[in-house]
Amino acid sequence: MRQRKPLVVANWKMNGNSDLVQQMSEALSVLNQPLPDILICPPVIFLSHFPKHANYKLGAQNMSEQLVGAFTGEISADMLRAAGASHVIIGHSERRALYGELDAVISQKVKVAVDAGLTPILCVGETQQQREEEKTLQVLARQLDAVYAAQPHLLAHSVVSYEPIWAIGTGQTATPQQAQQVHQFIRQHLAQYDAHAADVLRIIYGGSVTAANCEALFAEADIDGALIGGASLKVADFSAICTMAKDS
Ligand code: PGA
Repeated sequence: MRQRKPLVVANWKMNGNSDLVQQMSEALSVLNQPLPDILICPPVIFLSHFPKHANYKLGAQNMSEQLVGAFTGEISADMLRAAGASHVIIGHSERRALYGELDAVISQKVKVAVDAGLTPILCVGETQQQREEEKTLQVLARQLDAVYAAQPHLLAHSVVSYEPIWAIGTGQTATPQQAQQVHQFIRQHLAQYDAHAADVLRIIYGGSVTAANCEALFAEADIDGALIGGASLKVADFSAICTMAKDS
């Protein structure tokens, strides 16, 4: 019996529409328990379109590190809560690379999320080049330390998602062994801040997860679920992944 309940996250990115909301909510609503924790992170405008249902929760893909004020285009943690979100993805590699989000801002966002009662899903991961140069663990340690070294109490309220950048949207999934090795490193590294929190921390994997490859990933000891982009836009595939996660 696993000590950590699996978590399966749909990251729709800037995709989807009302039809997909309806189809996804209907499909997930008829899945039989026991299920993993299922979290849908659509574009925020769709959060309120999802009917409430015990089979899934809702999250956002990003939020402001500011609490309130003159920040055009931004959305606050409190607003996300009011819109029905319980979780928020923070520091996704697309935010880091395309919008210049640095470790310091990401660290602040994790704190603001926890203070507001949201569970942050902190994304960390290395580029292809960093992997080739054998800098993977060093990069991950830096990304993790930026958040937890000065704020170790946040660990107990977090989820971490390992997302090798070379695996996102490329069809090139990390092998279960590659992912397990990194997940184990993340757990051990974070144990220095809070051993119990690191033990119960859910560390999920993201990067070209599909219904065909998820089972082998979920079978690894330190892989506690998945963060899914492309396959989360396909109702049948995403439902199948959720069903497989519950058995792992
Ligand atoms: P993908 O995206 O499943 O399409 O590779 C994953 C992610 O962005 O985390």
